[in-house]
Order: sequence, then C-alpha cells, then structure tokens
Amino acid sequence: MPEPVAFAAPRGMRDFYPEDMVLRTAIFDAWTQAARLFGFEAYDACVVENLELLKRKGGEEIVDQIYTFKDKSDRDLALRAEMTPTLARMITARQNELAFPIKWTTIAQCFRYERMSRGRKREHYQWNLDIVGEPSVLAEAEVVATAVCALGRLGLKPADVRVHVNSRGLLSDLLAKLGIPREHHAATFLALDKRGKVEDADIAVILKEAGLDAAHIDAAFRMLGIATFEEAAAALGERTPALAHLESFFDAMTAYGIRESVRFDISVIRGLGYYTGIVFEGFDAARSLRAIFGGGRYDNLLADLGGKPCTAVGLGFGDVVIGELLVEKGLLPTAGAHRDLAVGFMDEAQQATAVAAARALREAGVSADLGLHAEKPKHFFARAAKGAFKRAIYIGPDDVTRGTVRVKTLADRAETEVPLAVLAARLGTP
Ligand code: HAM
Repeated sequence: MPEPVAFAAPRGMRDFYPEDMVLRTAIFDAWTQAARLFGFEAYDACVVENLELLKRKGGEEIVDQIYTFKDKSDRDLALRAEMTPTLARMITARQNELAFPIKWTTIAQCFRYERMSRGRKREHYQWNLDIVGEPSVLAEAEVVATAVCALGRLGLKPADVRVHVNSRGLLSDLLAKLGIPREHHAATFLALDKRGKVEDADIAVILKEAGLDAAHIDAAFRMLGIATFEEAAAALGERTPALAHLESFFDAMTAYGIRESVRFDISVIRGLGYYTGIVFEGFDAARSLRAIFGGGRYDNLLADLGGKPCTAVGLGFGDVVIGELLVEKGLLPTAGAHRDLAVGFMDEAQQATAVAAARALREAGVSADLGLHAEKPKHFFARAAKGAFKRAIYIGPDDVTRGTVRVKTLADRAETEVPLAVLAARLGTP
C-alpha cells in the first residue's frame, strides 16, 4: 500500500478553491484596473531567479527567507521573494533601448520562508508598480495614488486606509545632525525598522555592532519620538533637499485629491536596504493588521547591479492583508456573481437544442454553463441555485416542439418565453 499523501498544502502555502478565487479575482481585477487607469504597462518574469541576484548586503531579513535550490546542473536558483531585483535585472538588460521614464506593473507570486503570523504567509501574490527613470516627486505621488485608487475600487473609503510616509533622506539628515556618520546610516535603518518586532534592547545591540556608540544609539531612539513633519523640520533646523522633496510629495497628494489618506510617520523606515528617499506603507486605519503595501524610492539599485545609474520608485501590495481587511469590513465580493446563466435539458432528445441555445448565448457574449447530461428539473434547478446562477434555461420536449426556451430569473422565479431564433439577440449585450 502506498503511503497516503497529505491533503493539506505545504505549511504557509495556499490552495485556491473556486470560492477562494472569488476574492482573489476581485483583488487582481482592482489592481489591474487601477494600473491601467494610471497608464502602467504590464510585464512578467519567471518565479525562478538566479540566487546570486537576490542575495544582497547583510542585515535584510528577506535574504534569510529565500527558498533556494540547485537545478540538475548545480546552478544556484531561488524562488523570488520579491519582484524588485528581477525588475532591475530586466531593465538593466535593456537599459539602452528603453524609453525612460517607464511605468511597469505586474502581479507576481513571491515566496518567503517567514515565521507564520496573521497577514504573513510563505507565499503571496504581490502587485508591483514601478516608475523607473523619473526623479520627480510625481513618481512617488503616482504610485501611491494608483494604490489608493485600487483600494477605492475594492470598496474601501479614504478613512479606512492610511498611507504612512517618511523619507530615508530625511532620516539620514536627522541622523547626521545627531552626529551619526553617514556610513552607519544603512545599518541603522535596518536595525530601527525592527522596532515593534524586536525588543529595543536587542536593537541597541545590533546598532552597537553596526558601530554606533551609546550616545548615538540613544539619540537614534529619541529621533523616533518625532511626531509630526513640523517637528522633524524643526529638529533639522534647515530645509534640506530631502525635506523639500517630502514637502512637495504632500503638496502633490493634495493635487491628487488624496491628502487626507497620507500622513507623516517617522517610524516608517522599511526593511529593505535599497531604499534611498521617500518610503511609505499603507495600513488599515485601526492599525489592527500588518502593512497592506509598502514601497519607496530606490535610486541606486540599478547601478548597484552593474547598470547605469537610474532613479526608481515603486511599491509592492500583497493579496493577504488586503483580503483580511475586506473580510473585516464586510466587503467580500459575492460568490458566483459572475455566473450568469445555466442551461439544462431533460432528455437526450433535447441535447442538440440545449447545445444550440448555449452556443448562441456564448456567441452573443453571455456566460452560459451547459449541463453536460440530461437531468431531472429538480436536480437542474438545485444545481443552478447552488452554483449561484442568476438565470436558467431548462429545455424539455415541449420547448423543442415550440422552438422556444424559457428563461427563468432564479431570484424571483419570473419566467419569459423567448423563441430560440432570437435568444441571442434578446439576451446578448449590444
Ligand atoms: P515588502 O514591504 O517586503 O516590499 O512587501 C510589500 C508587500 O507585500 C507587503 O506590504 C505585504 O502586503 C506583502 N507581503 C510581503 N511579504 C508577505 C508575506 N510573507 N505574506 C503576505 N504578504 C506579504 C517589497 O517586496 C518591495 N520589493 C516592494 C517594492 C516594489 N519596492 C519598490 N518596488
């Protein structure tokens, strides 16, 4: 006897049954429509990447979470943990041909061997929006506005989600003001980003290892106590380019009509090393869930990979947390709402008529699910109700004789008789 297989998906991985696809499709649709409205072009790549591309300087949690394997030729490969390195690789490969700035979008399945918690799986789909080759703050504004647009399409109101915004440039200016040398800033960001997940005492140890003395560590923690943009500006005492960039971003948000959805938040640092400027994360207003999306400016990544220097801004927006928020808000899409019409028949003698009816409807653009064998009416209508169809056509011998079909609206059982010859014209969308 063979060993029985495990029916559960591997830990942290999800199966999507048709009922699960309803939510996933609604999320993907909102993402796709928002990206289209804002003029992003779609791209894609294989989920398998060269491991070398994904490994970067130490300190980033994500590098330890990569699923790695060797192929049969001993190549070191990995399942991508995020799309950004792949995007940077693709753009670097064609840097001479592409017309910058480019606005690209994709929905990428990503794998991270994470400690499982609410909102964190070991596999997720991540909508990516990236604008490459544009230094203007409108690039940041555009990606944030596209994400906010997608939230709106999912039924969320501006008050439901907040985009928390900060700037690595501003943080760097503040750290410099505190006397912390620039070469320690990257490590300081990654350490401070762990706040909330790791004890402050442990963060202090990491900061010490990164070369900060006790006074600097103290100052770095105190910096995180800054509550408003005005306070940050006052602490800085001068209008640095990073401060001006951030100010312009908030002004742009007013012009986009979404200023109420964004706020300054000194604690947003981001856990990825490549960010250089404005950084942001979207959260549910109650702050009961993990980040809905996150991103920022990463002006050095292409050059770091060996390409020509090129500015970039982008974000990643996962399907897990937003799914939880939609459930919490009671905004789940209706199951089977896309299923329009079921067609069934009583005996084999009506099979050809049923096929003809389904064919005519499909050609007219009506979604028609054809019963694939003769059924008793009781079975057919029970199945149609379970499948959440809106309408049903059940063909019996009399229909064939009369050359008509009866279209039943399942909600109120109202019935209209329609000659088969004009069925498509009557029901089809013009
Ligand atoms: P990230 O913050 O690591 O950024 O991920 C972005 C979003 O992906 C998160 O806010 C969350 O919605 C989702 N996400 C990440 N990990 C998981 C997980 N284990 N389970 C469920 N959802 C998850 C990036 O990945 C950047 N590459 C984004 C970016 C694009 N920056 C510039 N361009």
